[in-house]
Amino acid sequence: MLSKKVLSFKDRSLKGNISVPGDKSISHRAVMFGSLAKGETRITNFLAGEDCLSTIAAFQAMGVDIVRNNDSVQIQSQGIKGLKEPAEPINLGNSGTTARLLMGILAGLPYHFTLYGDASLSKRPMDRITNPLKQMGAKIDGRENGRLLPISIRGGNLNPIHYHTPMKSAQVKSGVLLAGLLTDGTTVVTEDTKTRDHTENMLKAFGAKLNVNGTEVTVEGNKPLTACDIEVPGDISSAAFFLVAAAVTAGSEVKITNVGLNQTRTGIIDVLQLMDVDITVKEDRIVGGEPIGDIVVKSSKPKAAVIEGDIIPRIIDEIPIIALLATQAEGKTVIKDAKELRFKETDRIESVVSTLKALGAEIEATEDGMIITGGTKLHGGVTNSYGDHRIGMMIAIASLLIEEEVELIDDKCIAVSYPGFFEDLDKLSH
Ligand code: S3P
Repeated sequence: MLSKKVLSFKDRSLKGNISVPGDKSISHRAVMFGSLAKGETRITNFLAGEDCLSTIAAFQAMGVDIVRNNDSVQIQSQGIKGLKEPAEPINLGNSGTTARLLMGILAGLPYHFTLYGDASLSKRPMDRITNPLKQMGAKIDGRENGRLLPISIRGGNLNPIHYHTPMKSAQVKSGVLLAGLLTDGTTVVTEDTKTRDHTENMLKAFGAKLNVNGTEVTVEGNKPLTACDIEVPGDISSAAFFLVAAAVTAGSEVKITNVGLNQTRTGIIDVLQLMDVDITVKEDRIVGGEPIGDIVVKSSKPKAAVIEGDIIPRIIDEIPIIALLATQAEGKTVIKDAKELRFKETDRIESVVSTLKALGAEIEATEDGMIITGGTKLHGGVTNSYGDHRIGMMIAIASLLIEEEVELIDDKCIAVSYPGFFEDLDKLSH
């Protein structure tokens, strides 16, 4: 039975300060690299969302001693050689990041693994990572010739590779780099446009021999990682929902503190500026190569924009909430070059367009994006997140603009990336 929530807000202006939970991408990587590094790794401000818990469970199943206490995680590892063959298949839940990065690691270990996920993850393409791993020598099979989960891997004896990623994907880049760590040579990954670089920053902090030159990353294999402490910045992809909420509701002013400001992730700030939103950003420190600071957004009169090209990987997870912003902006917003949205937790071109249309927006899907005519008054209705956390949060923020009730079917999936989302929304709307 799917969960259901009726959304109805009396006071629609948002005021106050919050710090959003830890970054999902960085939390996954901290657990993975801490499990590969000999010694004790302590993680603070870890995102205890369902996706990152899948990553913890995977490494526990390989014998790594991982203890979590709310948002603190302690890992004791014997290093790569201490990892064991899991006794059971590994459940990846809803998590694409766990799937693609973990496959890179498992491909380099001399064991057999079986991986499976939920209904959504079982539809998402895995050949983007299994293809380069097969080229490196891993034996991988699965549904549709290794394209879909469940997938089995017989790892070990990998060769280094020079690989150009055919799609703009940090998960693929990271999976190949991790496999490269488990070879005897030098692996080089290049990409057309720089995608999020948390793997590169954090592997350096763990002592990997890694070099970044523009869009080319080189890693030396067979060099041990050393445990270190990781402080996870707040997730700008979670913050984005409240930044847009403050921009589109009258009388609002929201400050998000301690949020990650890595340049490969801050496209949402550029889009808000481009669309004339009143936003102030203050960077105050850099931890483990990741800048952290505060963002303030005030109620604004947003303007439409054309959003395309190299900015897309820097906003890939924020497009659902940007689409909602565009429904309130003056003019026609065009989002292009974003076909990757079709391979997310849902086909996010279809799920965003059909959901916002059902709430009264003027929005059309295109092959690689969407066209939104702004300035529409949204109305109530019955909506479904389709199990996609970011669609669920987009609907919740939309309901701030709607006088009638909005029913949200499957609100619980929001816990994938933001377990306390409704508490934070409540906190800001009082
Ligand atoms: C992620 C990369 C992106 C992003 C996902 C997290 C990562 O996916 O959408 O939420 O942590 O590397 P792609 O690599 O498929 O673009």
